[in-house]
Amino acid sequence: MKNLRPVGVIGAGKYVPERILDNAELEKMVETNDEWIVSRTGIRERHIAAPEQATSDLAYEASIKALASAGIKPEELDLIIVATITPDTSFPSTACILQDKLGAKKAAAFDLSAACSGFVYSLAAATGFIQNGMYNNALVIGADTLSRITDYTDRNTCVLFGDGAGAVVLGEVPQGRGFQSFDLGAEGAGGDQLKLPAGGSRLPASAETVDAKQHFIYMNGRDVFKFAVRVMGTATEEVLRKAEMTKDDIDLFIPHQANIRIIQSAMQRLNLSEDRVMINVDKYANTSAASIPLALVEAYEQGRIKEGDRVVMVGFGGGLTWGGAALIW
Ligand code: UT7
Repeated sequence: MKNLRPVGVIGAGKYVPERILDNAELEKMVETNDEWIVSRTGIRERHIAAPEQATSDLAYEASIKALASAGIKPEELDLIIVATITPDTSFPSTACILQDKLGAKKAAAFDLSAACSGFVYSLAAATGFIQNGMYNNALVIGADTLSRITDYTDRNTCVLFGDGAGAVVLGEVPQGRGFQSFDLGAEGAGGDQLKLPAGGSRLPASAETVDAKQHFIYMNGRDVFKFAVRVMGTATEEVLRKAEMTKDDIDLFIPHQANIRIIQSAMQRLNLSEDRVMINVDKYANTSAASIPLALVEAYEQGRIKEGDRVVMVGFGGGLTWGGAALIW
């Protein structure tokens, strides 16, 4: 991306709902235990949206913080992209609902569906719009309310997911900074491993689909695990190669927060010590599109990202998809 207008993060904010569902409470809901959940996933608790909160409400809270930190007013925004698989409604898009809530009157707005890779896909899309001069800024949000599509009687999945939102404002940054490379990919052939079976045009909602619990996440955990371990390694290596960086250049690695064992296998392959990796899966669980921005914003708030730091983010998920980005902060 040399010789292009440099685009980077100029503001960031996050939001998680107040209610915490911890492993002890899950023990009362399904046949599970804290020891199993922590040792197999690293998750201790997750945040769950209140009944009246939808994805756009989570996105709104994260967005106003990101806009304030960027010093940009909603009416100055050119573009809003919401990465989500749990939109408020199929249409209008969550981005349009958010545009209205924010009063971002001149902003174009659309949702992007790439599951847990959605935030990185959206960063790449927004960066392209700004690099080519079509827009000067963009609000990019990863927001999901997975609790609405989680079956809390299925121990295989209900311990894994949480709700949240993270937002960044992208804009022009000084030369030598900003996004250095992206690596986006998909293996559609693996789509059936992780999906929401009903509610779309293939299988519209009906009494039968509700009875068959087809409006909840279906996941083949073991196959997705193998895919995740593989692409976390390959996508990181590819994004580093494109950015002309090496593993040693990484100041902070921000992986999708799905399972501590997947993160640890990437750390081993990339030879990264814990002080160079952001981990918060213990507090928020897997929040899909919100996972990477929640980790990015939290790392920034904790002072773990400073000007000039080389940050690498890598996500993977439904599709199946993956997305990596290398950024000089
Ligand atoms: O962002 C989307 C991407 N998704 C992911 O990254 C998920 C990737 N996959 C995983 O993280 C792991 O595969 C899981 C955490 C989902 C499962 O861990 P695992 O080590 O692969 O366990 P398993 O599926 O091999 O199951 C082991 C056993 C099974 O019992 P049997 O059949 O061996 O008797 C499960 O029934 O653990 C059992 N089990 C549980 N036990 C207690 C499954 N869930 C639970 C539970 N509590 N919550």
